[in-house]
Amino acid sequence: MTKPRILLFDSGMGGLTVARAVAKQIPDAHLIYSADNAGFPYGAWKEKPLVERIRRVVGALVNRAKPDVVVVACNTASTIAIADLRASFEVPFVGTVPAIKPAAAQTKSGIIGVLATPGTVNREYTHSLIHTYAYHCKVFLHGAPRLAEIAEQKLRGHPVNMAELADEVAPVFRKRDGGRTDVVVLGCTHYPLLTEEISKVAPWDVTFIDPSPAIARRVADVAEETVLKGPDANAPAHGTVLLTAARSESSETLAAYASMGFPKHEIIDLPV
Ligand code: DGL
Repeated sequence: MTKPRILLFDSGMGGLTVARAVAKQIPDAHLIYSADNAGFPYGAWKEKPLVERIRRVVGALVNRAKPDVVVVACNTASTIAIADLRASFEVPFVGTVPAIKPAAAQTKSGIIGVLATPGTVNREYTHSLIHTYAYHCKVFLHGAPRLAEIAEQKLRGHPVNMAELADEVAPVFRKRDGGRTDVVVLGCTHYPLLTEEISKVAPWDVTFIDPSPAIARRVADVAEETVLKGPDANAPAHGTVLLTAARSESSETLAAYASMGFPKHEIIDLPV
């Protein structure tokens, strides 16, 4: 039986949380992971150069991997570039956007926190999700400058500085009119790597929403609806990471990818 060849794309290691869910949902999928580690972190980029960068990187990745489906496992990229990618390439794309709709359905206090990158919190797309699905809630949206980097360091085996972490997440824990935040959206794919630590520094218990299982179900549906290309001897093997910069060849970074199911790696050339 032909296996779907699925390319997951992020600026760094965050999309591994989505890859983990996809591997669980579609155990026989041929998974190729990619990180624009030369461009990391995307959270700090201006919109126009970022859209151009993503188009250029994804073009090179699609060329190399010949995927059946591409998962943009990055909120910062999806909220700004998913329409551009769909218009530029024929392959189907599944994006990742902050899970504001499920948060609005789950909150009892009506107070929701959204943790995301500084880029994602500024996006028109994010504000329109709030206006459409959470217009009846109070939403505290916070662009955390260092959280994605802290998650990467943890995956590389470094201890998490809990005081710094507490400062990064504090703005979404709020009280208002006798109620307080009861649902926090993890609006960056890096953050589920830190759920345990964030729970420890949280001032009270909340429900965290990690959208990766829902994304994985969507990927399975799209793969089923797609005519698969079939095996390609030149495509990267299952469990390969495609990187844009050689700097990530440090042994702890490669060990981090291996621990999440991607033991092989390759550096890709970007067109000038
Ligand atoms: N993992 C990415 C996201 O979901 C962003 C991390 C970054 O590059 O700033 O938004």
